[in-house]
Amino acid sequence: MNKLITKLQKSLAAFFAFVFTLITISTTYAQAPTAAAIAEGGKIFHAKCATCHSLGTNKITGPGLQGVGDRVTAPAADWMFKWVKNNNALRKSGDAYANKVYADNGNVAMTVFEGDLTDDQVKNVVAFVLNPPKEDDVVAKGPEGPTKKADNDEHPGWILLLIIAVLFIIVVVLRTVRRSLLAVTNQKQGLPAPEDIGLWKDTLKWIKTHKTHFVVINIFLVVCFLVYGWQYLWGIDVTTGYKPSQPINFRHDVHAGQNGIACIYCHSGAEKGKVAGIPTLNVCMNCHKGIQGSTPEYKTEIAKIYDAAGWDPQNMVYNKPSHPIKWNRIHNLPDFAYFNHSQHVTVGKLDCKNCHGDCTTYTTNEQFAPLTMGWCIDCHRGTQVQMAGNGYYAKLHESLMKQDSSRTITEADMGGLECGKCHY
Ligand code: HEC
Ligand code: HEC
Ligand code: HEC
Ligand code: HEC
Ligand code: HEC
Ligand code: HEC
Repeated sequence: MNKLITKLQKSLAAFFAFVFTLITISTTYAQAPTAAAIAEGGKIFHAKCATCHSLGTNKITGPGLQGVGDRVTAPAADWMFKWVKNNNALRKSGDAYANKVYADNGNVAMTVFEGDLTDDQVKNVVAFVLNPPKEDDVVAKGPEGPTKKADNDEHPGWILLLIIAVLFIIVVVLRTVRRSLLAVTNQKQGLPAPEDIGLWKDTLKWIKTHKTHFVVINIFLVVCFLVYGWQYLWGIDVTTGYKPSQPINFRHDVHAGQNGIACIYCHSGAEKGKVAGIPTLNVCMNCHKGIQGSTPEYKTEIAKIYDAAGWDPQNMVYNKPSHPIKWNRIHNLPDFAYFNHSQHVTVGKLDCKNCHGDCTTYTTNEQFAPLTMGWCIDCHRGTQVQMAGNGYYAKLHESLMKQDSSRTITEADMGGLECGKCHY
């Protein structure tokens, strides 16, 4: 009987250890989809999908994707994966919803992304569409810059705590059961009841007799802690995707996209100096004296410019007090880091897209790149310097080519990794 109990105990212990490991692993890794995957998907969405889809309810070429997870065939992620990969094939396979949405949209075929996007990329973009950014994920910021609300999804620490608490209760209950069973068998065999030495001493005893188990469990816990800690620390102060609402709902897709206004028209500093700059009201009024808006929403937003400028659109005169528009700043490097737009835009001939994403598709502007030191350095290591017409570096370039004429010259070769270039 005693043996049976010990056996039972051992298999139970093994079973719970197994379940515990499974749960931990699944919450750590399988925890569908990670914030990083969604962020990655967001970039793909802006690059590949936003020309035809909004994340709201308005139709562009394709339907607005708000709540799309609820209307496609469940499970939504699987259906959307197949659809995005190759919607033609899915329709041909006779999928009812695929054929319905095609007919509903006037038989306009969506792009096939098989070959263009990898399976992982498709998964990420689907994850993004199913978990679109919420405006209120991001809290309004003070003058010290953007702050991001702690993201519960990113740190499922409380799930682990809950599991540990439940396991603890199970251990205590099992221990009591075991003690009463032992008491019964001992009584049957005429032995004295086992003495109760208390949970703490019992645990110490267990540790003494199970040293290897104890060490393995501890190593596991330490590794978990380090992984969480590492991920958490890397996320501090990184505000990719920061997307505050603005006092006027200024849309880059309407201006730079549909109306093709050059970025430099409004951000003229980007070619000439350190700061790209936000256009003043005068710049807006160059056009908006005449353009009052073609839809009711546009009219309301544009009226806010008139209010700020003190402009009377009926009589076409400035006859009221004016006040500046308080745009919420999105990008904000710390003061100890030096970044200069003209070095990159004019000398480096880099497109704004490299660092700001495709602004021509943004309804609300947002931070596209992480703006970490690693991000600057990675690009300096990987980007080949454009030499044509780049007088500033001609000498350095020549001497580098003399050493090895077959090499490609990256910004790192030009001193782009020197601390002093970016730090005062
Ligand atoms: C060239 C325009 C175009 C592009 C680019 C495009 N789509 Fe579509 N999409 C459509 C159209 C049009 C439909 C409606 C179905 C049809 O007519 O085939 C659609 C339908 C969908 C649907 C189903 C919508 C619903 O209401 O059920 C999803 C989901 C979707 N697209 C996701 C994406 C994703 C993700 C991307 C980017 C990887 C993308 N689309 C890129 C045009 C496009
Ligand atoms: C008609 C004027 C106009 C044009 C054209 C324009 N922008 Fe802007 N941009 C603004 C205004 C106004 C803001 C501030 C409000 C906002 O953030 O949406 C802004 C904000 C931004 C920001 C965020 C600034 C911050 O606070 O950190 C970036 C980045 C940006 N624009 C990039 C671009 C790029 C790239 C293009 C070209 C594809 C472009 N803009 C075209 C007017 C313009
Ligand atoms: C080069 C001309 C030009 C300049 C400069 C310009 N706009 Fe516009 N704006 C337009 C056009 C064109 C439209 C589209 C009007 C329509 O379709 O009804 C528009 C529409 C808008 C709208 C309504 C659509 C939306 O974006 O929500 C707002 C608000 C707006 N502009 C604000 C501004 C502000 C603020 C500035 C200055 C930072 C500015 N515009 C500078 C040309 C311009
Ligand atoms: C090499 C990367 C890179 C490129 C290319 C780039 N930017 Fe920027 N941009 C940044 C960084 C980094 C910041 C944050 C600067 C800061 O906070 O001091 C920024 C900030 C901005 C801002 C807001 C703050 C400011 O400086 O006024 C605007 C507007 C802007 N960029 C527009 C543009 C436009 C328009 C282009 C293309 C002509 C462009 N950027 C190209 C990296 C880049
Ligand atoms: C998309 C790629 C890219 C990113 C991101 C980028 N840079 Fe650069 N950077 C370049 C290139 C290319 C040059 C070289 C331009 C040239 O041809 O002279 C350069 C040049 C510079 C220089 C001048 C170096 C010299 O030798 O004088 C500084 C300083 C600099 N970058 C700072 C930064 C900082 C700070 C960041 C991050 C906030 C950053 N860069 C992000 C591509 C990038
Ligand atoms: C290409 C530009 C660039 C170069 C080169 C560079 N840094 Fe940085 N560094 C940055 C930027 C941008 C930040 C701000 C990043 C942020 O706020 O996350 C930063 C942040 C830092 C920080 C503060 C970290 C923090 O989290 O607050 C330290 C320390 C630092 N850098 C040291 C160095 C040292 C030492 C070197 C030389 C080996 C160096 N950097 C070279 C761009 C650069």
